[in-house]
Amino acid sequence: QHVAVLMGGWSAERQVSLRSGEACARALEGEGFRVTRIDVDRTIGDVLARLRPDVAFNALHGRVGEDGTMQGILEVLRIPYTHSGVLASALAMQKDKAKLVMAAAGIPVAQGLVVDRREAAQRHVMQPPYVLKPVAEGSSVGVIIVKEDRSHPPQEIGGDDWAHGDALLAEKFVAGRELTCAVIGGRATAVIDILSNDHAFYDYDSKYAPGGSTHVLPADLKENIYHHVQELAVRAHAALGCRGVSRSDFRYDDRPGGTGDLVVLEVNTQPGMTETSLVPEMAADAGYSFGGLVRWMVEDASC
Ligand code: DAL
Ligand code: MG
Repeated sequence: QHVAVLMGGWSAERQVSLRSGEACARALEGEGFRVTRIDVDRTIGDVLARLRPDVAFNALHGRVGEDGTMQGILEVLRIPYTHSGVLASALAMQKDKAKLVMAAAGIPVAQGLVVDRREAAQRHVMQPPYVLKPVAEGSSVGVIIVKEDRSHPPQEIGGDDWAHGDALLAEKFVAGRELTCAVIGGRATAVIDILSNDHAFYDYDSKYAPGGSTHVLPADLKENIYHHVQELAVRAHAALGCRGVSRSDFRYDDRPGGTGDLVVLEVNTQPGMTETSLVPEMAADAGYSFGGLVRWMVEDASC
């Protein structure tokens, strides 16, 4: 079978995607697939129409690759592709819209609102602590945590060099733990507790620098909470209509005297597949080698 691995692109997560793509391409070759690596640019429709692979392995992250547009091109070309379809991809990428759908399905999400970045640079849009994040980015690009003791809103988001769009999602910050759980073939994997080590939170460097974070698998949680996280991951995946592999991120306030809140932050429809990424680790725990996982994804592809 001929598999085209789509990677790169021009989103803020281009570098992450090149790493995910190369890791997946190598693993697919190891599984005996004929692999073509494609560094995606705006000619991708023509490139795919000419190449006509049996399956497109989508290793893109962020805009265009993860937001439903690439999925639309693949639907039109009738090339089976990995991960979620058009609607689920578009929904999950737009964090505020995904929250509406999840909340309607009874899934707990952090209280939030969409604000213009210039307004958010002028005044606190909610009582600190809160988080400001671009509505449609990944890998924590552009995420700012406004702590309790901060008297001024972050000025940097109002400037001309801000490159992550005008619409920001402001969300009540849920202190405590950062948890994540993947869904593979409709089933939840183990839950990971992410310790961001020297970083304030699981930011870009903490995600991709070796040693930037420690992953505790399985997360040390009370059994009922552990299962609740798994159940919410499956329900979030289903509520957004995801397919194949997804990874849902959570925050859980288990501090003594804390609120006990457990919220889904978001569902990632194209979770990272780099050496430091979470999904390969969770998949390994579920019995999939990296090669076995990418093989499963190719076999699960559709259009
Ligand atoms: N957006 C990155 C790739 C992730 O969710 O893993
Ligand atoms: Mg994300």
